[in-house]
Amino acid sequence: MEHPQSDSAPATPVAPVPAAATMRAIVQDAYGDADGLRLEQIAVPLVGPDDVLIEVCAAGVHIGDWHVMTGQPYLMRLMGFGFRGPKAHVRGMDVAGTVKTVGAKVTQFHAGDEVFGACDGAFAEYATARVEKLAAKPAGLTFVQAAAIPTSGCTALQALRDTGKITAGQRVLIIGASGGVGLFAVQIAKALGAEVTGVCSGAKVDLVRSVGADHVIDYTDTDITTSGQRYDLVLDMGGDRTLSQLRRCLTPRGTLVLVGGEGGGRLIGGAMVRSLRAVALSPFVKQSLRMVLGTTRSEDLQALAALIDSGKISLVIDRSYPLDEAADAIRHLHTGRPRGKLVITI
Ligand SMILES: NC(=O)c1ccc[n+]([C@@H]2O[C@H](COP(=O)([O-])OP(=O)(O)OC[C@H]3O[C@@H](n4cnc5c(N)ncnc54)[C@H](OP(=O)(O)O)[C@@H]3O)[C@@H](O)[C@H]2O)c1
Repeated sequence: MEHPQSDSAPATPVAPVPAAATMRAIVQDAYGDADGLRLEQIAVPLVGPDDVLIEVCAAGVHIGDWHVMTGQPYLMRLMGFGFRGPKAHVRGMDVAGTVKTVGAKVTQFHAGDEVFGACDGAFAEYATARVEKLAAKPAGLTFVQAAAIPTSGCTALQALRDTGKITAGQRVLIIGASGGVGLFAVQIAKALGAEVTGVCSGAKVDLVRSVGADHVIDYTDTDITTSGQRYDLVLDMGGDRTLSQLRRCLTPRGTLVLVGGEGGGRLIGGAMVRSLRAVALSPFVKQSLRMVLGTTRSEDLQALAALIDSGKISLVIDRSYPLDEAADAIRHLHTGRPRGKLVITI
């Protein structure tokens, strides 16, 4: 897994809540599966001096919501998500909506602005967010489309541009190309001039090709680690291949960027162990082995919006769910192998 986005600060009650005093929200008391999620009427959150209160129109769903819901791998509980149960009562992180009110120190946004980004508790009618995690919603996008972007889009951008140092003309392999992060990664890598090979299951080869991959490999019938193909940059988001298997896909001085993967133990998570091993090994080998801890931030949301505006990224939405079916959305995400992003509409 490897999900970083636990950076919620406690809200300070400085601004009055202008909306209804209560709201509908998807809440959870204890770690567990989606059956433990409930739709409840709870208090509208208080907005801190550096935050904004958003009237949520749509909330994106990603695999991090499943991790926070289940508290797995257990390492997350030590990372600030809550030891015995989820610290944040309301699920959801990715948001698109309208600013309802702003904290006393906020100058960047005003009531009525349409925004998207990361927030605390997106599966609700209202949510608070820090300004550095928001950007203006591109006018050409619906709220549903905008809510599909934040975590997956920012992670893909940071993995390729900041960690992978991608350059035009490189041969790039994207493992997990049909997933939430992968569909962004394929398109961003193409926009940055790379020759892109995507790896996914056979049922989604057409999807990955449709977003612009030059080549697509079905991992169910081809072992990418023994095919003899070598890539300058490999982004890994799917499966549980070992470090040595992944290194076989790289050129002698190639770069491996470990984003995630769902294999491995409940305690720490196989992907995290492998990433830490990669970072420790990297100084001793010619290849560069790196890991990503993505974060949602304004400037990257703006960069993604620009790529979308210029037609270089198109958004792939599998389907949207009403708020009271948020549990079904998370179930579908975890086991239903969606073709694109899932979004909850409020
Ligand atoms: N480091 C970070 O900051 C960060 C941020 C976001 C996400 N993540 C992690 O990155 C991973 C991907 O996230 P996501 O939201 O894109 O998840 P996702 O939407 O569930 O996508 C998973 C992808 O993995 C592919 N896959 C599954 N088994 C595979 C295999 N054996 N070989 C190759 N590909 C395989 C899937 O392909 P098919 O569906 O076609 O089988 C799909 O494309 C997750 O582990 C997540 O926790 C990390």
